[in-house]
Amino acid sequence: MRQPLVAGNWKMNMNLHQSQKLVSEIINGLGKDNKAEVIVCPPFTSLSEVNSLLKRTQIKLGAQNMYYEENGAFTGEVSADMLKSVGCEYVILGHSERRVIFNELDDLINKKIKAALVKGLKPIFCIGELLEQREKGETMQVVSRQVEKGLEGISAEQMKNIIIAYEPVWAIGTGKTATPQQAQEVHSFIRELVAKKFPTSVAENFIIQYGGSVKPDNSSELLSQKDIDGALVGGACLKADSFLGIIASA
Ligand code: PGA
Repeated sequence: MRQPLVAGNWKMNMNLHQSQKLVSEIINGLGKDNKAEVIVCPPFTSLSEVNSLLKRTQIKLGAQNMYYEENGAFTGEVSADMLKSVGCEYVILGHSERRVIFNELDDLINKKIKAALVKGLKPIFCIGELLEQREKGETMQVVSRQVEKGLEGISAEQMKNIIIAYEPVWAIGTGKTATPQQAQEVHSFIRELVAKKFPTSVAENFIIQYGGSVKPDNSSELLSQKDIDGALVGGACLKADSFLGIIASA
């Protein structure tokens, strides 16, 4: 049985004061009998304070990015160790905004995944096709390349600590959601890809989140699909009510 995992990716939103307010509202509104594990991923500048507020709750903390080197002259970057030191357990890696806007390529993402795992951070490894790739019928090819390259050199033991987030780029922040059937088709393909590289038990137990315009009114149908084990939420996680609605539907 895979426990649903709902993560909120705050992106470049929420200053310190706004972050404290939002996380307090989430903590206060979270019911006791949710099935889902919940993660919040605020911007770097809020991690430490949000971590303090999360003490004595079940909510976990994640970051939105990191660099793979341990330390040194890498102006503007943060390391896995730094994220651990402010309470992070998870880190989003390979998000399409990093790939598209900041030109991150598969081999860089692979290095980051490995560096995160070495330090005991669990990567939320994002993959997904662009609209033109979907229209040309290349979705499975793209996803397959991203999985292959992103997970190069990863052991079965390490794979147990990796979450994959399938986020069709055309559905991110656009209000267009993949239909539950479109998403399920790719999720089951991803699970098959992982089953070819790793033992069946690993492929059956690892979590695949869906991301791309997830909202309270579409989350329950998406999350009821066989291979959709959770959601990576952008826009709808910036309001406590809608994030809590998605968590309750899982
Ligand atoms: P969205 O973002 O929910 O605003 O589409 C999802 C994501 O980028 O992770």
